Amino acid sequence: MCGIFGCILKQGKAAPLIHAALKRLEYRGYDSVGEVTLDGSKLYMKKDQGKIDEVHQAHNLDDLPGSIGIGHTRWATHGAPLQVNAHPHVDCNGQIAVVHNGIIENFAELKQELENHGHVFKSRTDTEVIPHLIEEAKKNNPSLSLAEAVLDALKKLNGSYAIAVISTIEPDKIVCARNESPLVIGVNEDSAYFASDIPAFLPLTNKAIIVDDGEIAVLSSHGVEIKKIADSKPVVREPKVISWTAEMAVKQGYPHFMIKEIHEQPECLRNTLRVQEHYADLMATFLDRAREVYLVACGTSYHACLAASYMFSKLAFLPTYPVIASEFIEQHGKSVNIDSTILAVSQSGETADTLAAVNAARQRAATILGLTNAIGSTLTRVSRVYIGQQSGPEIGVAATKTFTSQLSVMAQLALRLAKKRGKVSQDEMDYLAERLCRIPETVQTIINTQEEKTKQIAKKYKDRKTFFFLGRGISTATAYEGRLKLMEIAYTPAIAFPAGESKHGPISLVEPGFPVVFVCPKDDTHKTLIGNIMEMKARGAAIIAVIEEDDEEIKKLADDFVEVPKDVPEVLSSIPFIVPLQLIAYYMAVERGYNPDMPRNLAKSVTVK
Ligand code: BG6
Repeated sequence: MCGIFGCILKQGKAAPLIHAALKRLEYRGYDSVGEVTLDGSKLYMKKDQGKIDEVHQAHNLDDLPGSIGIGHTRWATHGAPLQVNAHPHVDCNGQIAVVHNGIIENFAELKQELENHGHVFKSRTDTEVIPHLIEEAKKNNPSLSLAEAVLDALKKLNGSYAIAVISTIEPDKIVCARNESPLVIGVNEDSAYFASDIPAFLPLTNKAIIVDDGEIAVLSSHGVEIKKIADSKPVVREPKVISWTAEMAVKQGYPHFMIKEIHEQPECLRNTLRVQEHYADLMATFLDRAREVYLVACGTSYHACLAASYMFSKLAFLPTYPVIASEFIEQHGKSVNIDSTILAVSQSGETADTLAAVNAARQRAATILGLTNAIGSTLTRVSRVYIGQQSGPEIGVAATKTFTSQLSVMAQLALRLAKKRGKVSQDEMDYLAERLCRIPETVQTIINTQEEKTKQIAKKYKDRKTFFFLGRGISTATAYEGRLKLMEIAYTPAIAFPAGESKHGPISLVEPGFPVVFVCPKDDTHKTLIGNIMEMKARGAAIIAVIEEDDEEIKKLADDFVEVPKDVPEVLSSIPFIVPLQLIAYYMAVERGYNPDMPRNLAKSVTVK
């Protein structure tokens, strides 16, 4: 994935604004950065490999003339992260500049064709075909406007894109378009902006227009014009006022977004309790009617699905299949039909594997339900019903607050379904609903009282080479997620298993001092889990346990423990129990000298570059 941003201003210089906005988009990719501006009838460009600050230090990204410009922060897919492959890319004459977020699948054929027509390519990117296609369209029909030439080019592309184009051909416009990659437009009286994500322009305006797949938009000093790519039909769409404050999108004094976002969890969980009743009810009705329910997601969202499968089963007696999205088509593609329901869970709503699974299921007439943090994302548009989890923007690549929010929404869904099916008594419903409302406070207590302890644990174990994460029941999902956090940001190989399975192979790894993290809520699995702890202890493992605060039995067995307030119902336990594991992973990354916000080889969504 990559980040794109651009602006057209009535007055002032575009370059410093683009630079600042790209910083806010850096979480989308940080292999290289580039900007191009227009002044009079000339394009001015700076680009290089490296993080934005490094490139700015070397080239001064603010020092470009003109009040129109576009910029890009890259996550490499086609072509190594080198200066030559950094965006923007230009045509043969250096008159048309393009930034692109996405993957052009047929670029090799297009490139060949263009080369046969004499075009000369400089980079190894798929993107570079776009300015050359626009140039070719103009060459073949000089009367085309810039937007018409872009349209002509777009019709030849297969794949995903959010693109933006500026050109000396019409130096007062930015043309952008979208297919399967995010694109939003921001407007105010003086200026128009486009970006991959709303936080990029939030300090400049809170009025946003979401561009849909298959649309092209022309930004000029007269405003914004949107059309359908297929038939050039005009689209009328009023801007929405975004309630996120600019402060929500910056670090607010925390050293990293990840720790800021861990600390935001109580607030997010409170917001998540305000999901729209109507949609939650509607979703519960679809789940109730389904012949079978697949919970489909990637990464952290998949772990939320895994935990949710226990919630649906235990509360509503609804069996569900949690499926890793990239396996869905192979594993279940043929058996999905009109009676199947897919609940797709994706923070970004743009993850390619999740969307591919959803599309395959749609083609077989299945019902699609969506849970996402990104309203306006592709997932929201392909879902019969969707719920926005209302966590606010998550900038840290490693998902934290969006995981606990997803769990809260799915617990609410399971409760509604249980009520619909008459599977839980009113007293139990009331009790669970009340406990769910207390979860934000529980998480706040953990952060207030246990953070220092997690720091000490990270310090103590920072040089260990491998970790085990074990849990039983719903805590298996918590263990998987704790393992993922540690691996992705502290680069520590870790293995997670249902604790009962650990003796069937994994235990052979254990030797004296081997750290094993146990997730130990006081639920029905507690006694058996103690047996698993003993097994590991007998082999000399160092036991790190996340326990309820009065769990004296495990306190005696553990080398180190972190405490969670007691009386959290089993079906909700993953929400508070993951928090100490997020903190341990965060502090372990810091101890090891890594930047937890930018894990290598990872980005927020895998949809696009
Ligand atoms: C991966 C991220 O690329 O996508 C994970 O590294 C994330 O952190 C996963 O959980 C799924 O993303 P999403 O947006 O579909 O929930």
